[in-house]
Amino acid sequence: MPVVLATGNPHKVSEVAGILGPGWEVVAEDVEVEETGETFEENALIKARAAAAGAVSRARTGAEPPCVLVLADDSGIEVDALGGEPGVRSARWVPEGEWIPSLLRALDGVPADARTARYVCAAAAVWPDGREHVVRGTVDGTVALEPVGTGGFGYDPVMVPAEGDGRTFAEMTVTEKQALSHRGRAFRALLSVLAEEPPRR
Ligand code: IMP
Repeated sequence: MPVVLATGNPHKVSEVAGILGPGWEVVAEDVEVEETGETFEENALIKARAAAAGAVSRARTGAEPPCVLVLADDSGIEVDALGGEPGVRSARWVPEGEWIPSLLRALDGVPADARTARYVCAAAAVWPDGREHVVRGTVDGTVALEPVGTGGFGYDPVMVPAEGDGRTFAEMTVTEKQALSHRGRAFRALLSVLAEEPPRR
């Protein structure tokens, strides 16, 4: 089944394609939309609705085959010692190359047992007829003292999931990451919701 994923992030595309499995053909669409929501859920819906508007209009003009379902996620890291920041602003609080250095500087002197954090992902689904769903997945962990690993993206080199074996997400394969990750949990929950509600065209 074709599905549009509203993102310009190739890591999200491969993670979500892996989570959804072989029955789904994921087509990425990089939507230019301002993330004005105050919650992960609001921003996930903003992205999904924007992509749905484009996908539906293209399907109507016959420009490409209709993609009936549009998915999006909004995600980030909440750091307890920073009062939950950067949270929904994780992609924007500092420029991309500064994400990890800024986080480690902000936690300078904070001991290992106080470096608790969680990844949060809101996964949204929007059908062309306007039906919408949004669900949340989280994974608890700690922020490492220094980056380790080259896989994943974003904060993965410093995020050590509590349910893991001590490795950062950047030291895991995509399959290992999605078994534990906020995104894996959110999109698996979304699949359960969608399974209860078959598509109507
Ligand atoms: P979004 O694309 O607006 O959802 O931005 C999410 C931001 O949160 C990303 O740019 C990363 O900085 C961070 N983030 C979200 N999910 C992950 C993840 O799985 N690993 C590492 N960083 C993540």
